[in-house]
Amino acid sequence: MLAKGAEAYIYYGLWVTRPAIMKLRIPKKWRCPELDLRLRQLRTKLEAKLLSSAKRVGVYAPTVLYVSLKKTYLIIEFINGLLLREALISKVLSKVEAKEVVRKVGIFTARLHKNGLIHGDLTTSNVIVYKGKPVLIDFGLGDFSTTLEDKGTELVVFEKSLMSIHYDMYEELWNAFIEGYSLEYADADAVLKRVKEIKMRGRYVEERRIKRFRR
Ligand SMILES: Nc1ncnc2c1ncn2[C@@H]1O[C@H](COP(=O)(O)OP(=O)(O)O)[C@@H](O)[C@H]1O
Ligand SMILES: [Mg+2]
Repeated sequence: MLAKGAEAYIYYGLWVTRPAIMKLRIPKKWRCPELDLRLRQLRTKLEAKLLSSAKRVGVYAPTVLYVSLKKTYLIIEFINGLLLREALISKVLSKVEAKEVVRKVGIFTARLHKNGLIHGDLTTSNVIVYKGKPVLIDFGLGDFSTTLEDKGTELVVFEKSLMSIHYDMYEELWNAFIEGYSLEYADADAVLKRVKEIKMRGRYVEERRIKRFRR
């Protein structure tokens, strides 16, 4: 076993001769069993579809090798790299390399968004750096959507994940992301405007919470 998440267990092995991972969606005990199975099947199917769609629009993502809807698992090509999060923390990447990788994540995100795909959990833990290039994994919370709100939220999530690890480099990395995103996506300005609005809303809610706490 490689990892144990809230939704799925990840195992490593060989698929025929190829290094692969198995992502098995596990039941949630508190859910009605029939509904639970149905939801896991839908998620498994959607994740497989999103992974192959991402590849089709020019985003590096692992190849789906096998899908079992009955047992709710995916067999996915193993990417033998380092999580972007680890790569940034351990500083195995130089500043220039780190910026280039994150700029490329921006380009990939733009390709997803202009084709109506949302990654759904775009954090530095869901990007693997392989041969100096980012590979997007874990479309488990993704969706097909074209709304500004979904695209904007995606960017806010990624910005937060950058902020949470490397405050000293956060601004440069975030700028690199925006640069890539804007370069690749004609509607980038509208999304970035929405990003500001979403953050304002967050701030407003936060301020009310603090005021209520003080009272
Ligand atoms: N295709 C892959 N190649 C290599 N490692 C992977 C791959 N997919 C997942 N992993 C590893 O397993 C971890 C969890 O997988 P992920 O799909 O992100 O599931 P979760 O929904 O639990 O976050 C990842 O952070 C990564 O370390
Ligand atoms: Mg993940």
